[in-house]
Amino acid sequence: MTTGIFITFEGGEGAGKSTQIRRLAQRLNVAGHEVVLTREPGGSEGAEAIRDLVLNGPAEKWSAVTETLLMYAARRDHLERVIRPALERGCIVLCDRFADSTRAYQGAGGDVDPDLIEAMERHVVEGAWPDLTLILDLPVTEGLARAASRGGGEARFESKGQAFHERLRAAFLAIAEREPGRCVVVAADQSIDAVEGAIWAAVEPRLKAR
Ligand code: TMP
Repeated sequence: MTTGIFITFEGGEGAGKSTQIRRLAQRLNVAGHEVVLTREPGGSEGAEAIRDLVLNGPAEKWSAVTETLLMYAARRDHLERVIRPALERGCIVLCDRFADSTRAYQGAGGDVDPDLIEAMERHVVEGAWPDLTLILDLPVTEGLARAASRGGGEARFESKGQAFHERLRAAFLAIAEREPGRCVVVAADQSIDAVEGAIWAAVEPRLKAR
């Protein structure tokens, strides 16, 4: 039986997910919760190895279908070894990206057949859907500028151009509209403190409801 809380962070490049996920982890720790902070692709030894494969190299290195399969191989390992066991221990799992990123990047951005993605979700994620998904939303030009100034990182996707990133943004917003019970959109073009406040306002009622 699952007793923990599963919270995912989603959004385009440069939306400030890493800063916010760390801040939320800190708040939850101070409040006495046991927190597992993790990310996708990655989060387990095998999934981190897949992350290296999929995120490094030129933009055309993998087709979008192959990317989907790699993301889902990584996701399954991560679910089996890290996410599900942590939820069963009663932890709050904070995950930087999850299945919505595949819908957006490979589905909307890469034109992968939604039936393939839906089948992966059914067979690989099974029932382990997030209790809450925070979508950090930001105009594309601002996000790409922030990601470029940060340096390093995941150049394969950052190099795909404005139109690709506009499709991602629209896809995340469409997911939030379809699943309003799970998803909360947070405007990420505010101060770091204001974004943190908006995230806390979405998380706190879920803690109380537990
Ligand atoms: P990050 O930059 O937020 O660490 O994310 C890593 C990159 O991986 C980012 O460019 C989005 C991409 N990605 C996908 O394309 N599909 C996925 O399913 C996931 C989880 C990430």
